[in-house]
Amino acid sequence: MRTVHSVKDLRAQVKAWRQKGERVALVPTMGNLHEGHLTLVREAKHQADRVVVSIFVNPLQFGAGEDLGAYPRTPEEDSAALFDEGVDLLFMPSVEVLYPNGMDDHTKVEVPGISELYCGQTRPGHFRGVATVVCKLLNLVQPDLACFGMKDYQQLAVIRRMVDDLAMPVDIQGVPTVRAEDGLALSSRNGYLTGEERAKAPALYAALTAMADALKGGRRDFEALVDEAKAKLSEAGFTPDYLYLLNAQSLATATGEDQELVILAAAYLGKARLIDNLLVDLQ
Ligand code: PAJ
Repeated sequence: MRTVHSVKDLRAQVKAWRQKGERVALVPTMGNLHEGHLTLVREAKHQADRVVVSIFVNPLQFGAGEDLGAYPRTPEEDSAALFDEGVDLLFMPSVEVLYPNGMDDHTKVEVPGISELYCGQTRPGHFRGVATVVCKLLNLVQPDLACFGMKDYQQLAVIRRMVDDLAMPVDIQGVPTVRAEDGLALSSRNGYLTGEERAKAPALYAALTAMADALKGGRRDFEALVDEAKAKLSEAGFTPDYLYLLNAQSLATATGEDQELVILAAAYLGKARLIDNLLVDLQ
């Protein structure tokens, strides 16, 4: 595995592969890698000849007062894990390399509508930062495909919309959420949990699963189901941020006609803000 920090080295390596007709996949990350990230890498390897992983803690997607400074950075462990997975190229740019003219003056990618809802409401500007950096990474690597986790369901929807709207020639692959044995979705932010909080954390997935089971069992009183799930979270020690039942494709509020639904939730547990989601197929 080769590690590069500059745009020049990145482009030269990818160009050499392209000239041989090799298929290239990109897995963008912010590092502090866990099995969730590594599952994306395995999917990328499965689908391409060459895999590029980027590690960049993108300041543009963190709001004032968010955890940019505290975000876990473990470059040595990450590099070793990616080497073990057989990754071809690790791209680790600095902020200056990605935003040479500063972040304020950088062109921004705005995906309207969907970016302002749900996580976007709690974190204004977050998805602008995500779309901007993902657009830039896709332009730098020009991969045939890029893998993203369904754990960040709204993020995946924002990226799909951007790629579609801007006719970017890349195949976006969504990879199912990897969970701990007790159901908690793996996340770099789980590291913020104390031992006691970690023991309570699976209640988030449990609340979503109970709601999904009730829907599959025939209940259609959506509002009551949402209230019950929020009450369960509060009882378990969470402070719910939001919990919605949505159309899985459009992310609009679910109606009685919808067959493919997604439950989207965010909740605070101590210092950590955990997000999770669950697809519910009523067909
Ligand atoms: P990060 O949180 O590091 O996540 C990188 C990728 O791993 C994302 O596509 C995310 O959805 C996926 N992922 C994280 N936890 C997962 C899990 N438990 N199961 C499956 N996939 C999981 O998401 C970001 O970074 C950034 O916003 C980024 C897209 C890199 C742009 O800066």
